[in-house]
Order: sequence, then structure tokens, then C-alpha cells
Amino acid sequence: MTAMIALERVSLSYPGGQAWSVRDVSLEVPRGAFFVLIGESGSGKTTTLHLINRLIEPGEGRVLIDGVDARTMDPVALRRGMGFIFQAVGLFPDMSVAENVAITPRLLGWPAEEISKRINALLDLVRLPPAQFRNRLPAELSGGQRQRVGLARALAARPSIMLMDEPFGALDPLTRDDLSAEYRAIHDALGLTTVLVTHDMTEAFLLADLVAVMREGRIVQSGTPRELLAAPADDFVRTLIETPRRRALKLAEAMAIGPGR
Ligand SMILES: Nc1ncnc2c1ncn2[C@@H]1O[C@H](COP(=O)(O)OP(=O)(O)OP(=O)(O)O)[C@@H](O)[C@H]1O
Ligand SMILES: [Mg+2]
Repeated sequence: MTAMIALERVSLSYPGGQAWSVRDVSLEVPRGAFFVLIGESGSGKTTTLHLINRLIEPGEGRVLIDGVDARTMDPVALRRGMGFIFQAVGLFPDMSVAENVAITPRLLGWPAEEISKRINALLDLVRLPPAQFRNRLPAELSGGQRQRVGLARALAARPSIMLMDEPFGALDPLTRDDLSAEYRAIHDALGLTTVLVTHDMTEAFLLADLVAVMREGRIVQSGTPRELLAAPADDFVRTLIETPRRRALKLAEAMAIGPGR
């Protein structure tokens, strides 16, 4: 079956860049898959997402969306089919929650009544009761609530692909766990294809159908979480995937010698 998103030997060096930010990257995201890109800061994760929705063009190689070379597609039409959540949420501060969510439908010229219904449905979906939240400004929301508005906004025009750049990065662990589990349920319910960037291995393993580990612009290993755990490609991947277990062990140790015993 045709992959929903495919990168074929893609490389990119930013203008004036000293080195390759993305180097010879190939990956396939099947339709309906939850794909997680993980790696250290500066490994090329955000750049890879931007290559998928053509915020940047590859220097070498091809990006295929549902089998079609992205270069042959109208960039605006291409992006319309994709919801994007940036590393910083980026709500417009002078616009209400409802106005922020309505940005794309408004650009697409939907009738006002349909937009208004869609806003309510989306706010319900992300568990922000519309009556309470529609008219608030971003400054009147918690960080987690802002992320929910960002999610509603990204889903507004019914995209089939979601690109999410550390969407839960700035949240406290409890909120983060809730929101990521809720998003996984939304992904399944709406039949989305998701590429999510994170540097948290626990999050990757809990959410992903497929994981790709990036390092210095390259993909060093990809596969199911199970495959990576069973046979890490090298010491770097081994260290990375052992982080959740190592932390759990440390925690168990700390509890055992702690005052509560
Ligand atoms: N606009 C740009 N111009 C030049 N170099 C850039 C630009 N954006 C990113 N880079 C460089 O490309 C490399 C990859 O950056 P990228 O933002 O993709 O990393 P990342 O994996 O998303 O990191 P982080 O986890 O910190 O967000 C880095 O070395 C970075 O300095
Ligand atoms: Mg980044």
C-alpha cells in the first residue's frame, strides 16, 4: 500500500549552514500510523517536519504525500491537508479562543454558521467546554489549555495528516500524560496519520506505532517500539531506549532507601 508520507533520500543544508541538517533521510509513514521522531536537540527533527509540509524544500531527494511528489503539489493545498502544531504553540494573543480555532476555516471561506458549529465541536473534542472557553484570550488560559486550543486549531479544517513538534513539551508531567493519551485517542477516532516529534523516550514508546531515532541529521534506526527494544542498532539507541527503564530503576532505588520504608 502507498505510504501516506514518504521521504526518499532527503538531504537539506540551510543557506549558509555549515553542515547537513538532514542527511540522506528515508522514511515511510503508513496511512493511519502514529509515527514518532525522537532525537537530541539539533538532530534535525523540526527540519524534517518542515520538509514534510514544504516550509522548506529538500536540497536532495523527494518527499511523497500519498504517493505524489510534494514538489508537484500546490503548497497551499498541500498544507491545507495537514494540521501543524509548532514547538511553541503560537496562538494569536489578541484573538479569542474561538477566533484562533477559526483561522483556517475562515481562510477557506466557510460560512459563519458552519465555522461556529465547528468551533464548538472542536472545543468539546479537546475538552474545553465552549460556553466557558470560546471568548477567552490566550493569556487567560493555562499552558495545557493553550495546547488544547492549538490542537483544536490544527484539526479545524479536517486534515488527514497531523505534524506535531513537541506539542506537550512545556507541560507538567500529569497534564502531559493526560493530553498525550487523549490525543492518541483522537488520532485513532479520526483515522489521522500523525508524525510527532519528542525527545522523551517514554512518551515515544507509549504513543508510537513506529519510532525513528535521529542523530546528527540521520535516521539511525526505525521500527516498532518492540523492535527497537529487542535489537537497538547501536550504543546510542541502546542508551536512549534504556532511559525510561533506567529512571524507573533509580526511582525504585530511591524509594527503597527513602524515609518511607
Ligand atoms: N533556519 C536555520 N538556519 C540555519 N540552520 C538551522 C536553521 N534551523 C535549524 N538549523 C540547524 O539545523 C540543525 C537541525 O535543527 P532542528 O531545528 O531540525 O533540530 P531539532 O532536532 O528540532 O532540535 P530541538 O530538539 O532542539 O528542537 C541544527 O544544527 C540547527 O542549528
Ligand atoms: Mg525542534
